[in-house]
Amino acid sequence: MLDLLHDQNNAAAGPVECLGLTFANDTARREHFLAILREQLQDPAFRQIEGFPLGSDEDILALSDPPYYTACPNPFIAEFIQLYGTPYDPAVPYHKEPFAADVSEGKNDPIYNAHSYHTKVPHKAIMRYILHYTQPGDLVFDGFCGTGMTGVAAQLCGDRKAVESLGYRVEKDGAILESVQDNGQTVWKPFSRLGARRAILNDLSPAATFIAYNYNTPVDVVAFEREAKRILAEVEAECGWMYETLHVEPASSRLKQLTGFTNLASLVKSNSSEPTPAHSNGIHQFTQRQDCLPHWQLPGSFYFLTFNTDNQRKLSPESRQIVLDALRFFDGQRLQLITAVVMPDHVHAVIQPMEKSAGVYWDLSDLMHSIKSYSANQINKIENTPGNR
Ligand SMILES: C[S@@+](CC[C@H](N)C(=O)[O-])C[C@H]1O[C@@H](n2cnc3c(N)ncnc32)[C@H](O)[C@@H]1O
Repeated sequence: MLDLLHDQNNAAAGPVECLGLTFANDTARREHFLAILREQLQDPAFRQIEGFPLGSDEDILALSDPPYYTACPNPFIAEFIQLYGTPYDPAVPYHKEPFAADVSEGKNDPIYNAHSYHTKVPHKAIMRYILHYTQPGDLVFDGFCGTGMTGVAAQLCGDRKAVESLGYRVEKDGAILESVQDNGQTVWKPFSRLGARRAILNDLSPAATFIAYNYNTPVDVVAFEREAKRILAEVEAECGWMYETLHVEPASSRLKQLTGFTNLASLVKSNSSEPTPAHSNGIHQFTQRQDCLPHWQLPGSFYFLTFNTDNQRKLSPESRQIVLDALRFFDGQRLQLITAVVMPDHVHAVIQPMEKSAGVYWDLSDLMHSIKSYSANQINKIENTPGNR
């Protein structure tokens, strides 16, 4: 991720202006302010600020992109406010009616979903407040910024399309109009102006401020895509095997057969007589057997089965095919295979044991024994391993 930040900074080739200074490029800007931050970190009083992160100077510096973002209290804020803020002047009238409107927004905007966070607020909802209370160039402060959606909203107040998507009208001269009811008529009334507002974002959590920084800083899209693909490839190489499935096709049409599950628990309660032990020749009535867990069987039922390899042994693709073939082999002979998926170290299947003679159904334990012993023998043959699981 840090490589990504550095790429991004190198990508900006031209001269850049920052806090009233001009630099040959963005890398020079960053180096200049990093040197100031490095010096500031030597000041014991600076580190005494409540909530100062526990971290080495090098880590704080590596994460920071000063003066825009520092992974510690930002020593450049005073300068920033001095440069971009407008001192309060009681002679300049400021009056706004309290903003009271429905600000509900869906939570499916791609910007909103770029990074999740608890109690995250959609930026479009915040934009309505900012547009109501402020003018372009004003400073907006969010001391509990989380992922920085206030910063996103403040910037998007300068984006015509984003403002229009809120249902406002934007005039050519930048005036923003809202519709109001006047004597039963809808009239458009100016209430704000198009233009970005600058935001100061703060949070107790360095993770939150880091997310907020990334939300609010231009991204080198090419470098981002390259890095995202690299991370995905790494995760797939490490964890992909867990998600590889080998399954019965077409599962969907077979699943249609699944209707009317029986609630075996209620059946036990309502059954006045003691459940009978397993019938060695099959299941002809409700049967309860106590192994590690109670195993209940009812003639004609569907069962969701899960079984795994011994010691989470990881099966090769060939071995997984043997397990699936074993399930298929008995399909239509001893059981109806509704669906099955063979994972590297476990199997899920939905089956319905068939009748072996009138009114007597195949016992699940016999079926499982046949499937497991057939596949274990075949797998041990091709993998040259002993054992039966
Ligand atoms: C509800 S979340 C804000 C979410 C944000 N509106 C967003 O859209 O992502 C509240 C934030 O306040 C932060 N917080 C809690 N106590 C704080 C404090 N004393 N100083 C600064 N931030 C604090 C939490 O870390 C959390 O990120």
